[in-house]
Amino acid sequence: MKHILLVIFVLFISAAGIVFATQNKQTSNKGVANMGKKVLVAYFSRTGEQYSVGNITEGNTAIIAKMIADKTNGDLFEIKVKNDNYPNGYDALVEYAKKEKQAQLRPEIIGKLDNFDSYDTIFIGYPNWWADLPMPVYTFLESYDFTGKNVAPFCTHEGSGFAGKQGLSKIGANILKDFALYGHIAQNDRIQADKQVSQWLENIGF
Ligand SMILES: Cc1cc2nc3c(=O)[nH]c(=O)nc-3n(C[C@H](O)[C@H](O)[C@H](O)COP(=O)(O)O)c2cc1C
Repeated sequence: MKHILLVIFVLFISAAGIVFATQNKQTSNKGVANMGKKVLVAYFSRTGEQYSVGNITEGNTAIIAKMIADKTNGDLFEIKVKNDNYPNGYDALVEYAKKEKQAQLRPEIIGKLDNFDSYDTIFIGYPNWWADLPMPVYTFLESYDFTGKNVAPFCTHEGSGFAGKQGLSKIGANILKDFALYGHIAQNDRIQADKQVSQWLENIGF
């Protein structure tokens, strides 16, 4: 009888050890700071002809958004307009966006995130357009309740730096330190871009 009890005891201890080791491995893979945070990376970005990078097939901001999603285990959501009439040429796009901003339009966007409430931290990325958020990003911001959410904004630009502070201040979120990067660095120097993204993520607790 004593032997049987001893065998049961040894088996129990071994099983508990295996369960502990597995759980420990799972949590340490995610990193302590990121543990338990559910992350969304929503972004707006354009391909076609862009300033200083020529004709691109992956948008500058899209490149950064994917890096962030990769590093944070976040879900990606591309903000896309329903009736996309944005011109492919840079100068024409600049003029089109200027009119859109002057008219304060809210272009309809595709798709709705049913599980939006489940996200703790929402990264929002976009190109600096006329020192502001592109209008479809306003549509996105006005489509959800951001009250009490952590929002980490990032932006690509070609000289003016970060834009959109005013628009973001109106959504009732806890706005984390923003991040801005030259579009041509995102497009042409992935090592530099990756380094800067990692530094920023670390600064905001990821
Ligand atoms: C309509 C439009 C307006 C822009 N306005 C600015 C600006 O005011 N300041 C700036 O630094 N860059 C400006 N840019 C450059 C973009 O911010 C930059 O090229 C960005 O990286 C493009 O990102 P994307 O490929 O993700 O769309 C503008 C570009 C466009 C198309």
